[in-house]
Amino acid sequence: MNTRFSRRHFMGSAAAALGALGLRPATALGAGIRPPPPGIAPRDPYDDLAKLSSNENPYGPSDKMMASMNAAWKYSNRYGYPDGDVLEKIAEHHGVDTRNIIMHAGSGETLKVAALAFLRHEEKVVGVEPTFLTVYRAASGVDADAITRPLLSDHTQDIDDLIQVTKRNYRDVGMVYVCNPNNPTGVVVPDADIRRLLDNIPEDIPVLIDEAYHHFVKDPRYATAVPYIKEGRKVLVTRTFSKIYGMAGLRLGYGIAPPEMIDEMRTYTTGTINALVKWGGVAALEDNESEAWVRDTTIALRDATANELRNQGFEVIPSETNFFMVHTGRPASEVRAEFRKHDVAVGRDFPPMLDYLRVSIGTEEEMKRFLTAWNQIFPDGMTTTGAR
Ligand SMILES: Cc1ncc(COP(=O)(O)O)c(C=O)c1O
Repeated sequence: MNTRFSRRHFMGSAAAALGALGLRPATALGAGIRPPPPGIAPRDPYDDLAKLSSNENPYGPSDKMMASMNAAWKYSNRYGYPDGDVLEKIAEHHGVDTRNIIMHAGSGETLKVAALAFLRHEEKVVGVEPTFLTVYRAASGVDADAITRPLLSDHTQDIDDLIQVTKRNYRDVGMVYVCNPNNPTGVVVPDADIRRLLDNIPEDIPVLIDEAYHHFVKDPRYATAVPYIKEGRKVLVTRTFSKIYGMAGLRLGYGIAPPEMIDEMRTYTTGTINALVKWGGVAALEDNESEAWVRDTTIALRDATANELRNQGFEVIPSETNFFMVHTGRPASEVRAEFRKHDVAVGRDFPPMLDYLRVSIGTEEEMKRFLTAWNQIFPDGMTTTGAR
């Protein structure tokens, strides 16, 4: 198991707390305490699960981030507290002005706020399916709708098709959504395609480019879309601290866009970010060593696991993220249910790719558990599926 990062707790462990009180854990007292009967102190099944279902970072925040957050508890009772200049630090990180940045409690909130700000009644957001659905769902919540287009057979996004559909529906289109790299496939849209999209749709239509998995990409054809904002294009790029920085449960994400778009979004923003995550975010941007370690370790484990499945004859979609999709040849929902019996949770359904399983990359130990379970579920490799 990887020990580069250990589980840490904000307030220290129960044992440490007892130690501070001059006590030792019960076993050391010789009190002869029996284990609790079922139902009295149930173990938390969450902790036993290899959670490979939500594209999380299994290591959590780095030591430097934890130190920074722990030092921020003292601001718990304040409103206008020092926040490590998090907004300035994010702006600096991208070489933009603070007026180009809007922060939210996770980039999922940025996506929702974008839908509220840019989709009017009965307007459409154009994008592919399967993809991350928050924007499409938010659209239906504001009486707008999505026009979704299928992926190409190599699982890439058909940019020319998106251009055509956007032009054809110009009057109704409020926004275009591109998840890059895409969730759930892990496939990138090359920078040349992003530029072609921007050059060929009416320039007043905002384009939302969701770069939640940016930090894991190695494909040289990919590039962040932030430079297009600097060119003055109507582009909103979203980023999150949930993935590479391990802060999914703490909630911090942001959008980068021209100031006019940020101002429109501000109207719908509630200001839900707390003092701890602001300090954690600042430390995350500065802790390049931990970021590199998480990226390299995740990619190494992803490639090793995917290659093992390929060696067994399975198609694995080449991924540029902290997850991959494998063709199970039978309903992925059935395979998932079998994995749960092994205390391994893997991704949900992504219609229409219902016989593909999305697997998030956990620790080395978790990936071993995944492969052990896989080998029992598919004892004869690809032939076990009954497909082909
Ligand atoms: C593509 C994509 N965008 C956005 C998010 C939202 O992340 P968060 O709200 O934690 O920043 C996720 C989370 O899984 C995602 O996969």
